[in-house]
Amino acid sequence: MTDMIAELIAARFAEETTFGKGKAASSVHAQQLKHRSRRRFKPDAIPAETMDILFSCALSAPAKSDLQQVSIIQLSDADQREAVTDLIPSMPWIKQAPEFLIFCGDGRRIQRICELRETEFAHDPLDAFLNAAADAAIVMQNFIVAAEAEGLGCCPISAVREVTGEIADLCALPSSVFPFAGLCVGHPDDDPAISVRLPTRLTVHKNQYDDSQLEKELTSYDQRWREVNSYRTQRNIDKYGEVKRYGWSDDKARQTSNTDRMSFTQHVKANGYDI
Ligand SMILES: Cc1cc2nc3c(=O)[nH]c(=O)nc-3n(C[C@H](O)[C@H](O)[C@H](O)COP(=O)(O)O)c2cc1C
Repeated sequence: MTDMIAELIAARFAEETTFGKGKAASSVHAQQLKHRSRRRFKPDAIPAETMDILFSCALSAPAKSDLQQVSIIQLSDADQREAVTDLIPSMPWIKQAPEFLIFCGDGRRIQRICELRETEFAHDPLDAFLNAAADAAIVMQNFIVAAEAEGLGCCPISAVREVTGEIADLCALPSSVFPFAGLCVGHPDDDPAISVRLPTRLTVHKNQYDDSQLEKELTSYDQRWREVNSYRTQRNIDKYGEVKRYGWSDDKARQTSNTDRMSFTQHVKANGYDI
């Protein structure tokens, strides 16, 4: 059956839309609009050739100044894999996925090239860090798009940054190479609801930034979100109590009320990025 673009957009945002009314969706647009992170996998291995194709597709992403500041660690060794899963026991999908990758921002390669070509590396550390992080993020997303086109499913894992030092040791990451996110890849064995997105009225600004409608839009977004998605448990009940109509905004406000990933900041500062 042909995917109609307005129907897919309506499902993604959980509200009616006039966008693309009556138009068939291209296969790429349909795949993007149907994207879901997958957290259960069949045991079937992914052939090495498929992985090579997916790496090639992923690394075709645009790169800042063509510096290509990304490295991907493919954790194929069973002991290495087990060590990572032991570090993040709350996410059993890391263990179950037949492939687990770590996408790293890599500021080391260009510094080595500067040495080899006898120039000085003089980029501002914050900008250098951001460029490497952006390259890693874009390559990871390109990998996800390529994998989904093969019928595979993925789940990014930023939790690797909760244990940055341990991951760096395990994968022998040198200074200036930092983990951006892990990625579980496999044949999906779950059927999660689509994750409803904030309306483009909030996220696309015409000419000038304007968030004057945030509060109003959040109320209706939380309502739409609850109809499709739901969290099994409310966060930080001790501190914030239990609410009847727990929505996305409650969850995200509570989630970000905790300090997060300080080990990552310390690791990056001590390993090549004086930010
Ligand atoms: C950079 C990044 C890091 C993420 N880290 C995790 C993670 O550590 N564990 C996890 O289960 N999901 C993780 N996710 C998946 C998000 O939770 C998911 O993308 C989000 O809930 C939206 O759902 P969807 O991808 O199904 O649309 C991450 C996603 C991104 C882009």
